[in-house]
Amino acid sequence: MRRPAPRLEYYVPHNGGAASDFAECARRGLCGPKKSLDPRFLYDERGSEIFERICSLPEYYLTRAETEILERAGAEIASALPPRCRLIELGSGSSAKTRILLERMNEAQGDVTYSPIDVSRALEGASRALLESYEWLRIVGVEDTYESGLRLAHSSGDAPALIAFLGSSIGNLTGSCARSFLRTVASVMRAEDALLMGVDLDKPESALVPAYDDAAGVTAEFNLNLLHRINSELGGSIDVSKFEHHVVYNAGERRIEMYLRALEGQEIEVCGGRAELRRGELVLTEYSHKYTPEGIGDLAAAAGLRVERTWHDSARRYALVLCSRA
Ligand code: AVJ
Repeated sequence: MRRPAPRLEYYVPHNGGAASDFAECARRGLCGPKKSLDPRFLYDERGSEIFERICSLPEYYLTRAETEILERAGAEIASALPPRCRLIELGSGSSAKTRILLERMNEAQGDVTYSPIDVSRALEGASRALLESYEWLRIVGVEDTYESGLRLAHSSGDAPALIAFLGSSIGNLTGSCARSFLRTVASVMRAEDALLMGVDLDKPESALVPAYDDAAGVTAEFNLNLLHRINSELGGSIDVSKFEHHVVYNAGERRIEMYLRALEGQEIEVCGGRAELRRGELVLTEYSHKYTPEGIGDLAAAAGLRVERTWHDSARRYALVLCSRA
C-alpha cells in the first residue's frame, strides 16, 4: 500500500539556524563604539507575539494597507500565475495575510504547496494551524534566514514559484543591502517565477513616527524585548529600566530609525564581553526604509527584476509590486 506524502515537511539547518549566532552578534554589536543589534533578533517567541499586536495597532497602518490590497488583487495575482505554481514566503510570521493568497491560489489551481521561511520558532505552530484549515495544502517549511532558506526551499521542488516578500520587510535593509538581497532572490528565480513584494511608501514624518512609537507602548515593548532576550538567553546583566525606546525619522535617508537609548551611563556584560554606555547613547535596533514609486522601480532594475504590476491601497500609503526576472 502506498502512503500519501506527508503534508508537513520542516527543515531546521543543522548549524542551529538563525538563532545560533545571537550571542556573537550581541557581543559584537554592543561592545564596539557604534552600537547596534540586528533586527532579526527581535523575533523570538515573545517578540513575534508582540509584533502581531503591533500589526493591529491603530497607528500601524502597514498591515491593514497590505491586507486591503491582497483582498482586492489576490484573485488577479493568482489567476495570472503559471499552473501548479507553489508559494514560497520570506518571513511568514503568523501567516495571516498569506491565507488570502493561499485561498486565491487554491481557487485558481487546486492543491497548493507552500514554503514558509522564517527565523522564528513560531513557524511550526503557524504551519500546523494552516494545515488544519486547508486540506488541499502541503507545507515544506524552512526555519532559517531568507537567503539560505530561499535556496533550500526553491530547490526542494521544480514547479514554478511565486516568492512572497510581504510586510515591507525589504525596508529593514539599507539601499545597497536591499539591492544585493534582491539580486540574490533574482538569481534563484527562473523565467516563470515571480516575486510579490510589499513596500511602504514614503510619507510625512507625522504619519510615520506614530506607527513606530505608538501611544500604547507596544512597539517600545517589542524593542526592549531584545534586552530581555540578552538577559535570559545569554546571561546578560542589563537593567532594562535604564533604557528607553527611541524613534526618529531620517528624511534624508527616507527611513525610520529605531533605537534603544541609555537613560544613564552604565556598564553591561554580554557573553564574556563588557560594554560601556554613556548616558543618552543609542543602540540601533532597526531601520525601516520608505520608498517613492520611482525608488521601487530603480531598486527592482538594479536587482535584475522587472516590475510587471503595482497595486496600492485606497489611501496610497503602501505598494504591492509583482516582479519577474528581467
Ligand atoms: C516587519 C520590518 C516590516 O519595519 O515596519 C514594526 C517591523 N518594527 N514596528 C517595519 C517593525 C517596529 C516592521 N517590519
